[in-house]
Amino acid sequence: MPSRLHPVHAALSALLLIGSPVAAEPPPAPPAQGAGAKTSPKPADPPGHAGGHGKGPAAGHGPAVETGGHHHAHGGMPHRFEKAADWVQRFEGPEREAWQKPAQIVAALGDITGKTVVDLGAGTGYFLPYLSRAVGDKGKVLAVDIEADMVRHMKERAVREGLKNVEARQSTADDPALEPSSADRVLIVDVWHHVPQRPAFAKKLAAALRPLGALFIVDFKLDSPRGPPRKHKLGPEQIMADLKAAGLFAELAKVDLPDQYVVTARIATKPASPQ
Ligand SMILES: C[S@@+](CC[C@H](N)C(=O)[O-])C[C@H]1O[C@@H](n2cnc3c(N)ncnc32)[C@H](O)[C@@H]1O
Repeated sequence: MPSRLHPVHAALSALLLIGSPVAAEPPPAPPAQGAGAKTSPKPADPPGHAGGHGKGPAAGHGPAVETGGHHHAHGGMPHRFEKAADWVQRFEGPEREAWQKPAQIVAALGDITGKTVVDLGAGTGYFLPYLSRAVGDKGKVLAVDIEADMVRHMKERAVREGLKNVEARQSTADDPALEPSSADRVLIVDVWHHVPQRPAFAKKLAAALRPLGALFIVDFKLDSPRGPPRKHKLGPEQIMADLKAAGLFAELAKVDLPDQYVVTARIATKPASPQ
């Protein structure tokens, strides 16, 4: 497990993980609601829903905040996201959709109707309504996180939003807690730089993929003002190297996001469309 930071320190660094404060972006279309829902979704956690910001992300810190003092023994950026309530507003804020473009990311996963999709490091479950709708009634979304309170929050959220095909599960920092050959897609958004032993972790993910399955790792561009401080960011080449070290075929996916890139990986040794 990553070492713990002082709560204030953790809060400052965390501000930079899900984007810099954005003042005047238009409110987004809210995420989908319910498995297979075709109607306009609505957000489960509207801005201001969460309290508990004493320890979590406070507003008004810009991207230049340097967290300092991070320990990089294994390359991962130690960080804790212990209390879901501290992060809901930050992760689910109405400005996020404009730069996160969740619909584009979910579209990049291909046709996932009826598939099993893992959202690894799912946090407060930002992607769950989108994934739930995309896999439909016959599919399954497995929301995995190392933080017990995030898992509790996602379980409650799934019930509250009627996301019947979503299951939340707790994992550990070095083990994604997935059954062998069980996942068609594994989506990993803004998490990879926290993983302590990345190639070893990637090997476990590779074992969890079905033969034609694929990983999608989304992380912040090195030159983006969003995300963690630059020294904690990983470029796409580094992520592809981590995945290749685990025996996966990795390449940059063609997804055009303003602040992030997407690396995709498969068990196959040559490019192939995920099915
Ligand atoms: C920056 S948040 C991103 C949350 C979510 N993916 C999103 O885009 O809103 C990172 C999340 O990854 C989780 N996490 C960190 N290391 C992890 C690991 N090794 N395995 C699974 N989850 C991890 C944290 O607990 C946290 O909830």
